[in-house]
Amino acid sequence: MTDRYAVIGNPIEQSKSPLIHSAFAQVTGQDIDYTKLLAPLGGFAQAVGAFRAAGGRGMNVTAPFKLDAFAYATDLAPSAQMAGAVNAMKFEGDKVYAENFDGVGLVRDLVHNLLCPIQGRRVLILGSGGATRGALLPLLAEAPAEVVIVNRTVAKAQELADLAHRHHNGRVTVRGMGYADVGEAFDVVLNATSASLTAELPPLPVSAFALGCLAYDLTYGKGLTPFLKLARQSGVTRLADGVGMLAEQAAEAFEWWRGVRPDTTAVIERITVPLA
Ligand code: ATR
Repeated sequence: MTDRYAVIGNPIEQSKSPLIHSAFAQVTGQDIDYTKLLAPLGGFAQAVGAFRAAGGRGMNVTAPFKLDAFAYATDLAPSAQMAGAVNAMKFEGDKVYAENFDGVGLVRDLVHNLLCPIQGRRVLILGSGGATRGALLPLLAEAPAEVVIVNRTVAKAQELADLAHRHHNGRVTVRGMGYADVGEAFDVVLNATSASLTAELPPLPVSAFALGCLAYDLTYGKGLTPFLKLARQSGVTRLADGVGMLAEQAAEAFEWWRGVRPDTTAVIERITVPLA
């Protein structure tokens, strides 16, 4: 019997998840049906309930429902707890298992696809919202030399740095600061703010880009964002957006649901938007 999955959001038309999961199902020979589900604002629980009642096995969750999914879940994985948000659910009887694969997807893209190891590197992450929360523990697990979180609202960066430091038992130094205080250069600079969605530029000093560094925008499909443009103008040659992260978080969810890991190469090629 065909197993049913869906991505739920509002809006949902833009979602690449059905394309990605259908491609994964094809190459792994899995019999699944994966659709888009538009839920009205305030109608998350009802829409998920109906999907489960009709035999749905799992869901991806996108904006604006990641917090609703957090509240709806019966069993939250540590990744979801740290992120404070859920992007994948698995339904088994009365249980709703919930995960957040964004951070692990990001790290997999950095390390395996872009061949940019984190171990021993100095990492700068811009922003202190959900995207940064999700990325922190998977990044720390790679044993970087140091992680600095930079944010317009400095207190948020410092709180998040303290939280990450505690979760990670203080093995890696994590500091939070404002943009004006970024005085050093970093090997990996990650833009996890929402600035690229509105074509805005975080006030990052260009001295933050070390020679040979990787500049990575977690946003997907926006081409050369103001952040990536700044990096390029500052002489950075290794630029990437979040297309690989999108594909890798999907692969994590697919493996979690189906027990088989799909290769992401073809999917990434297919959905890449040139950085121009
Ligand atoms: P998400 O869940 O996508 O991370 P969020 O929780 O609203 O979204 O967080 C957005 C992050 O982007 C915040 O860190 C925000 O900075 P503030 O906390 O100071 O508001 C950051 N951000 C948004 N627009 C920005 C801009 N133009 N320049 C710098 N940072 C920006």
